[in-house]
Amino acid sequence: MQRPAGHPSLYPSRRSQFLTDMSCNSCGFASHQGKLMSLIRLVYASHSLLDDSNRREELGEILSSARRFNEANDITGFLLATRGAFAQVLEGEAARLSETYARIEADPRHTGLQVLSRAPVAERLFAGWTMGVAEHDETTQFIFGLYGVTPETDLPTQPVDALLDLAGELARRPG
Ligand SMILES: Cc1cc2nc3c(=O)[nH]c(=O)nc-3n(C[C@H](O)[C@H](O)[C@H](O)COP(=O)(O)O)c2cc1C
Repeated sequence: MQRPAGHPSLYPSRRSQFLTDMSCNSCGFASHQGKLMSLIRLVYASHSLLDDSNRREELGEILSSARRFNEANDITGFLLATRGAFAQVLEGEAARLSETYARIEADPRHTGLQVLSRAPVAERLFAGWTMGVAEHDETTQFIFGLYGVTPETDLPTQPVDALLDLAGELARRPG
C-alpha cells in the first residue's frame, strides 16, 4: 500500500515494546508491568466537523495529541475516518479509558458521539498502536467497501464487529 506523499504523520505509530501487555484469557484481566488491571474495549462513532479544505491537516493534529495522551495512559486503538464521520476503537484500563473518552467527547471537532460497545476484554486487538488511523480515500476505498463502508455510510449504524474487522484489516496493512 502506497502512502500518499507528504502525509506520513497520518499513518499509525507503533508502540514501544515495553508497553506490550500480557493478558489472562480465563479471567479477562490483563497484567501490565506486573499489575492486574481490568481491560476495556470501547467503540464509538461520531459525526466529523472537520472542514473539507484542511481535513487532513486537522486529522494530523488530532492524532499527534491523541498519540501523546494515549502513550502516557497506556491506551491503544484505531481510528476510522470518512468524509463525514469517525469510528474509533479504544482499549485500556477502565478509569484511564473513561478519562480519555471524556476528553474525546469534549472535542469540538466532532459531534453526536454514540458508544456502540463498551466491554471487558481479555486482550487488546491493537496492542501495537498508540492510535492507528485509516482515512477513506482512493487508496483504502476498496477495503472500506468490502465492509460496506462508503463515504455516504453512516458509521454509527454499522455493526460493531464489521468496524472492528475493518480496523483490524487496515491495521495489518504493510506500513
Ligand atoms: C476523532 C477524534 C479522536 C480522538 N482520539 C483521541 C485519543 O485517542 N486519545 C486522546 O487522548 N484524545 C483523543 N481525541 C481528543 C483530542 O486529541 C483532544 O481534544 C486533545 O488531545 C486535547 O488536547 P490539546 O488541546 O492539547 O490538543 C480525539 C479527538 C477526536 C475529534
